[in-house]
Amino acid sequence: MSNPTRTILVDIELRLKKVGVPSPRFDAESLMAFSLGIERKRLGLQQEITSDQLRILESLVEKRLRRVPLQHILGEQGFRRIVLNVGPGVFIPRPETELLVESAIRYLNELASKPKIVFDLCAGSGAIALSIACEVQNCEVIALEKSREAFVYLEKNLQANSEKIIENNSSVKLVNADISSNLDILNSYLTKVDAIVSNPPYIPDKMIPREPEVKDFEPGMALFGGPDGLNVVREVLNISDSFLKSRGFIGIEHADVQGSSVEETGVPYLIKQTNSYSKIEDRRDLNGVSRYTVAIKN
Ligand SMILES: C[S@@+](CC[C@H](N)C(=O)[O-])C[C@H]1O[C@@H](n2cnc3c(N)ncnc32)[C@H](O)[C@@H]1O
Repeated sequence: MSNPTRTILVDIELRLKKVGVPSPRFDAESLMAFSLGIERKRLGLQQEITSDQLRILESLVEKRLRRVPLQHILGEQGFRRIVLNVGPGVFIPRPETELLVESAIRYLNELASKPKIVFDLCAGSGAIALSIACEVQNCEVIALEKSREAFVYLEKNLQANSEKIIENNSSVKLVNADISSNLDILNSYLTKVDAIVSNPPYIPDKMIPREPEVKDFEPGMALFGGPDGLNVVREVLNISDSFLKSRGFIGIEHADVQGSSVEETGVPYLIKQTNSYSKIEDRRDLNGVSRYTVAIKN
C-alpha cells in the first residue's frame, strides 16, 4: 500500500498543532526524517514511505503528542558547531545560550595567555564547555556539574567531541560536584582562571513553567534556583571571587526579569554589589530579551 509523505506530514502537523506543540511543521518533518534515517532537508525527495516506516513514525508522533521534547525523541540537540546527546535527566541546551558562549569566545580569542583557563559552572550536557574547547585553541576547560544523571551525558558528549578538542590543542576536565561544596580539588586554579561562564538554574522555586516539555521533562535541578531563583548565581559569584584572575571575564545567563542593575533581583545588581567587577553589561538574546550579564574582574 502506498503512503504519500505529503499527506502524512500534513496529518501529523495538524495533530501536533491540536495539542499545542509550538512548531508543529518543523516537528512533523523532523520526526519523519528521523524515522526514515535521512536529513530533514532531503524529505522533499521522498514521495512515499513504507508501512513499516509509517509504524515507526507513528510511535514517535505518539510520544510528541504527549509533549515529550522533540530532542528527547531524536536523542540530540545542535548547539553552535556541535551536536550534543540529550535525554531524560539533562537540560536541553537552548539557542539563547549561544550568544553567552560567543561573548566568552570573543574575549578568550583576544587573550595572549596559554593555556587559557575556563570554568563552566553548572555544565549540564556540556554545551558551553565543549563549544569553547572546540572553538578556542589552547584552552583548558573545567566543567562542573552536580547531577549524576546529567554528568553521564557530559561524559558521553566529551567522548564524542574529544578528537576536535585534541586537534584544537585544548582539553576538558569534568568534575561531578555541587558548586557550593568544598572545591579543594580545584585549588591549583585559585586566581588563575581567565573566564568563568555559567548558565545556572535561575527560575524561582514557586514559578512553574508553562510548557509541558519543560515542566514535565526537564530536571528540576536544572531549572529552579531557590526562592528568588538566584541562589546558584550567588554561588557562581562566590567561586569567581576566589578563582577568577584580575582582568578575567565572567558571563552568567539569567531570566528576562533578572537583568536589572538596581533591583536586588537582578544579576547585574548582584555583580555590582561585589565591588569586584567593572564593565558590567547586561545583554539581550536573539529575541531581544535581557538574557545574560558579562563583566571584567578588577
Ligand atoms: C540550566 S542548566 C544548564 C546546563 C548547560 N550549562 C546548558 O547551558 O545547557 C543548569 C545545570 O546546573 C546544574 N546544577 C544545578 N545546581 C547545581 C549546583 N549547585 N552545582 C553544580 N551544578 C548544578 C543542573 O544539574 C543543570 O545541569
